[in-house]
Amino acid sequence: MNIQIIMNNYFKKNLVSVEDIKREDVDVLFNRADEMKRLVEEKGGDERLKNKILAALFYEPSSRTFSSFITAMQRLGGGFIPFNGMANTSVAKGETLEDTAKVFSTYADIIVFRHPEKGSSSQIARTSSVPVINAGDGIGEHPTQALLDTYTISKHFTSLNSLTIGMIGDLLNGRTVHSLAKLFVKLGIKNFIWVSPNLLKMPEEINNLVTRNGGKLVETEMLADVIGEMDVIYDTRVQKERFTDIAVYEKLKLACVINQDVMKKAKKTALLMHPLPRVGEISAEVDEDPRALYFREQIRNGLYVRMALLDLILNK
Ligand code: CP
Repeated sequence: MNIQIIMNNYFKKNLVSVEDIKREDVDVLFNRADEMKRLVEEKGGDERLKNKILAALFYEPSSRTFSSFITAMQRLGGGFIPFNGMANTSVAKGETLEDTAKVFSTYADIIVFRHPEKGSSSQIARTSSVPVINAGDGIGEHPTQALLDTYTISKHFTSLNSLTIGMIGDLLNGRTVHSLAKLFVKLGIKNFIWVSPNLLKMPEEINNLVTRNGGKLVETEMLADVIGEMDVIYDTRVQKERFTDIAVYEKLKLACVINQDVMKKAKKTALLMHPLPRVGEISAEVDEDPRALYFREQIRNGLYVRMALLDLILNK
């Protein structure tokens, strides 16, 4: 009999960056996410996180990440503290991140944290006595989005290694693309195409990571020239909240719009993805295209992957 022992390397650990996860742990998470999908479809959920509390500390707006973590906790029988709308909390009185972390790690078993400053998740993780999941730290990272996106892609291709990945939009400020690129490199993907206005190019740190690991990189401003080569078309919005000069934002915000005409140039087998929210960079007419997965798959997979993460971090 072949008995395989599956290690849970997530137990009681932080998830601040995709760098915190080993290659083999990605498969553990995705298998657990498959289990969560079956659980939700068959029974709606269970009680495995009964008596566990999640504190959702959100210093920046969120619809999906905030709500999907809360839904995930509830579907597994746990409770939650929704700590957002900071104007009505003691954050407005000047309470520090460190003190807030101490307080909420007393109430809760896990903290899910979003904040406008890059590096703030590491900062809070150093003070918290319970695990911290980074739900987006400024222009830094958004590891759970990268995991749910990769989980979604893994359902469409037998192997990821030979894929050509296109990332489009605000690659400078988009934390989802930063985490996703790092995760793809970890998974052995080698072919990347970045499409962005010159002012919003992918940070050198990410490009260096790609090339150091033997990856091939094309950078361009012209989506039409390269969309036909992409297996995954990962679009992102221009991040208005990161601009100091709003006139520059206005000039760049729709530099690249994906509509039906643009999609005619894409492969029949390509996946069109977006972390959402979108603000005009994908026309609504594209939503019915079977290649468009942002509403059809990414949202639901986000729930399963976050349920899986909470289960793995909170249960041995
Ligand atoms: N994708 C994403 O992070 O969405 P929210 O900002 O709504 O959480």
